[in-house]
Amino acid sequence: MTHALIVEDDAEAARMVAAVTSGEGLSAACAGSLLDARRQLSLQAPDLLLLDLQLPDGNGLDLLDDRELLGRPEVMVMSASAQLPPVLRNRAEGAPVHLVKPFSQAQLQAALAHHRKGPRDAVPPERFGLLVGASAPMQTVYHEIMQVAPTQFTVLISGESGTGKELVARTLHARSPRRARPFVAVNCGALSPHLAESELFGHERGSFTGADRLHPGVFEQAAGGTLFLDEITEMPLPMQVKLLRVLESGSFMRVGATSTLEADVRVVAASNRDLAQAVAEGVLREDLFWRLDVFPIALPPLRLRREDIGLLAAHLLDQIGQQEGVRRVLGAHALGALVDHDWPGNVRELRNVLKRAWVLSQGPCLAPDLLATLLRRMPPAQGGSWDRAPRGTLATGAASAVAAPLSDAGTPGGERGQTNNWLSLPLGISLAEADRRLVEATLRHHGQHREQAAATLGISLKTLYNRLRSYGAA
Ligand SMILES: Nc1ncnc2c1ncn2[C@@H]1O[C@H](COP(=O)(O)OP(=O)(O)OP(=O)(O)O)[C@@H](O)[C@H]1O
Ligand SMILES: [Mg+2]
Repeated sequence: MTHALIVEDDAEAARMVAAVTSGEGLSAACAGSLLDARRQLSLQAPDLLLLDLQLPDGNGLDLLDDRELLGRPEVMVMSASAQLPPVLRNRAEGAPVHLVKPFSQAQLQAALAHHRKGPRDAVPPERFGLLVGASAPMQTVYHEIMQVAPTQFTVLISGESGTGKELVARTLHARSPRRARPFVAVNCGALSPHLAESELFGHERGSFTGADRLHPGVFEQAAGGTLFLDEITEMPLPMQVKLLRVLESGSFMRVGATSTLEADVRVVAASNRDLAQAVAEGVLREDLFWRLDVFPIALPPLRLRREDIGLLAAHLLDQIGQQEGVRRVLGAHALGALVDHDWPGNVRELRNVLKRAWVLSQGPCLAPDLLATLLRRMPPAQGGSWDRAPRGTLATGAASAVAAPLSDAGTPGGERGQTNNWLSLPLGISLAEADRRLVEATLRHHGQHREQAAATLGISLKTLYNRLRSYGAA
């Protein structure tokens, strides 16, 4: 029989956990303090440790250092905080299961059922909801989604463009108690400054010229469901103030209304930017950032989970085949070309390359040399800040996407075509002129890809647009 030790100083909570644990066929012992726990450990080493962190005589984490006494049980942490302390998230043996208090009996039963199946020995799932990938970083993402989906907590998804942030948001919704209600996605970058308030909160008939009927905003459209605020850093600053107020108060008003409505939505926000840097640059309000950053999920770039490329390619080719009515698969050795590429555009870039190869192929297989040719034409990888950002946290301003010198980004004399990797400036020009020439050269270097140029320059996309506008180029 599997033995569980429940370390919890709240006697009622401990009784509930012990009852459920015994009901699942485990033997259970309880301890209300670190001292008690050490006593229990010396009697019998547990296979499963259910650990509260705040104990009357210290922090539950201290027990985990006591390897000799503890053995190697599976650990489930029970805490009221939505986030595990970094030392737990970064444990060599993987982050422990996290039960966020208050949790239901059903949630505990689900966690115990997972434990019974032996998570350490189980084959990692190759997909979860809409997401495909068996790599360790994706397992962490699946685990985080599983933990937070049943709650009402706000989730903040970060990751480079094309890493699957929207799929994570949709998977979260599908796994949440709100799944039967709408999932409404808003691209905050596309909100017009004049109509943003009405788009978010709606307006009453006659509230402004042209408002000829009542219009429900996205907060109303998503009532009971999930509101996905995509590209949150691109929301106009005045709207950020209003959004914060709604998130704090839980209610909002249509434009032109006199009474408030309840904001019954679970908010999931996403950004492909380093949010700490966005705050430092003043494009994201710090108070809004803290309000959103309740439960962060950081998506790994594809180049840090190359072992998933084969699975993803097969999945994406399946999708393309279904859509076009003709199936094509990767030919022998074709995977090698894909695995060697750095994928600055992540899964979206992979999907686009496969689509191109699909169109250019005649037979049932995509040939390796065709893929290699297509990939040679792609822009080089950025080696961006996400490689270095600690999981589940934000990179600090200092660790953010600062440019590699242009000269480092490409292979000398390689596939760069017309792009010149060096920029020489004559002495005697102004700083503003040097600035303009650097911005323009970086854009050329990235084939006019503005997101990549902004990342290399270490400025926001918005700042880049402002510069271009001031040069009369956009
Ligand atoms: N893990 C995954 N499994 C299957 N498909 C994926 C996965 N990740 C991304 N995709 C696919 O890649 C494309 C881009 O994904 P998505 O739109 O979710 O990315 P994103 O992170 O929101 O990008 P952006 O920041 O540019 O908005 C979509 O077609 C999506 O279906
Ligand atoms: Mg997206």
